[in-house]
Amino acid sequence: MPIRRVDVALAPRFAEPAGRTCLVIDVLRATSVIATLLGRGARAIYPALTTDDGLTLRAQLAAEGTTAALCGERDALPPEGFDYGNSPGVFAALDRVPEVAVVATTNGTPALLACIDAPLAMTAAPLHATAVIRAAVEADRDVLVVCSGLRREPAEDDTLAAGLFVERLVRLGASPGPEALFALERYEAARDDLAAALAQSEHGQRLVTLGFAEDVALCATLDRYNVAGALTVEAGRPVLRPITSKGVEVSR
Ligand code: MLT
Repeated sequence: MPIRRVDVALAPRFAEPAGRTCLVIDVLRATSVIATLLGRGARAIYPALTTDDGLTLRAQLAAEGTTAALCGERDALPPEGFDYGNSPGVFAALDRVPEVAVVATTNGTPALLACIDAPLAMTAAPLHATAVIRAAVEADRDVLVVCSGLRREPAEDDTLAAGLFVERLVRLGASPGPEALFALERYEAARDDLAAALAQSEHGQRLVTLGFAEDVALCATLDRYNVAGALTVEAGRPVLRPITSKGVEVSR
């Protein structure tokens, strides 16, 4: 069941998710954090639009008897009152990751929430690329890769990661649209050292300056985890659940 077409929205404002499987990318670092949480056993991830929404959501879940860790960033650092920041390296090193997380980031979680009306929206990162591609192929619809970008504009780090997904889908027979071809070219020029290319991007440089060079290298790692996450709405709340090849896994 080949996917016929793959398009790329280089920033969320260019995305038209209707009728398509959306792969939402914020490689540095929100969707890499989410890949790490899912890959290490998180069973629910609630994306929040703002830090205040994140604080409210954690409190609401607690009132309902669910303990959720509040994770995310503002200006790449943990906001006041949060349990964790937005570092995939930190989540990879924990003995156990939180089973339930609320994640609020500047670009990544708003981009994901903007795709809520897609028939299937997944977060995507190199860290679990094959699992995401497999789920996209099973969904059997055209694919739109949505780059979170930076300050609402296209960003090189997400374009490079989008190119990786385009390359995989083209190999499976999908035809790339013009922006997908652009992302593919960028990726092909960088694929021999994706970590270095990510580190050279605007946000990569900022993360390196802030002391997160290891995160940047980790975000370029391929297929460390084999779980994808699909966005659903439960009790009026968007939530990412791990998916297996048999569909959404609802292990509560
Ligand atoms: C974002 O959503 O803007 C990012 O993931 C920022 C970060 O690197 O923490």
